[in-house]
Amino acid sequence: MPDIWLDCDPGHDDAAAIILAGYHPGSRLLGVSTVNGNASLHNATQNALRVLSAAGLDKDVKGVFPGASKPLVRQAAACIMIHGSSGLDGTDGQPLFPETDLPVCDQEPAICAMYQTIKSTYSSTGSRQKVQLVCTGPLTNAALLISVFPDVVEMVDIVLMGGSMAEGNTGPVAEFNIQVDPEAAQIVFSSAAHVTLVPLQVTHTAVATEAVLDRIKAGPPPAAAFLRIIVDMLTFFASTYRTAFGFPDPPVHDPCAVAYALRPELFQTKRMRVDVEMASPLSLGQTVCDVWGSTGRPPNVNIALSMDVEQFWTDMIAAFHLAGQR
Ligand code: BDR
Ligand code: CA
Repeated sequence: MPDIWLDCDPGHDDAAAIILAGYHPGSRLLGVSTVNGNASLHNATQNALRVLSAAGLDKDVKGVFPGASKPLVRQAAACIMIHGSSGLDGTDGQPLFPETDLPVCDQEPAICAMYQTIKSTYSSTGSRQKVQLVCTGPLTNAALLISVFPDVVEMVDIVLMGGSMAEGNTGPVAEFNIQVDPEAAQIVFSSAAHVTLVPLQVTHTAVATEAVLDRIKAGPPPAAAFLRIIVDMLTFFASTYRTAFGFPDPPVHDPCAVAYALRPELFQTKRMRVDVEMASPLSLGQTVCDVWGSTGRPPNVNIALSMDVEQFWTDMIAAFHLAGQR
């Protein structure tokens, strides 16, 4: 079963990604790093700490490593419209999940901690099983990791939530995580690492409907207080998605990338050339997917086309229920 390092920018759906990564039977959450994206690096880090602690994952993950506070060459981002001013607001306008004294691990750069953990985990498994580096925010940390420690590409499979094969969400054709740091995305896509992209076409099928919320609420009684926070989290997310996009129910993007790392058999994929638009003001951050190989450029990315949504929710809800009983 996989060992996961999660690089994230919580974020409502990042919170769900942390919980799925921490509570899938047999998998191991090796560490969590944060990146500027949905919120400032400070807020994303505090949010990750709160989620880990509330979900009882602080037994295994002893802190959070803050990474890049801004993209490689562009301005720092925030996505208040979808995630509120803290990056993880509840329906009362306050940050979700209680405060915690779980530490910020800032004694060394996050990419050094990532590299050391990935290397020692990869070397210690007899079969040299690759670590799943799952990225659910902009790819700034991943690009820095690959650039500073190029040999890491042999030790990881990179799975990321990001990009789109058609319509975008922060522009007509661009998806948020890629648009925030397109240069970082291009570095990752053109590296020698094995990269799987879980784009909007897949994550837009993972919607938290009323039926999903009912299944979450039906968890075991000891989990009730925690599950109320989860339902509030998805209710806030639903309201911002309704206002911003008119979606009846919110797409819970980020745990789909974790689901791929855990159970790739739930997905259909296709290998193709994907490059990132970095110049056009209209389509900045577009993932240009060469579905038919018309550029003649070598395929560099495995792109998810569809997912077993029912099994995804079964696994996600089981993780919420386990986290609530920690
Ligand atoms: C992505 O952007 C963020 O708002 C979400 O956390 C997700 O990672 C979706 O485009
Ligand atoms: Ca995210």
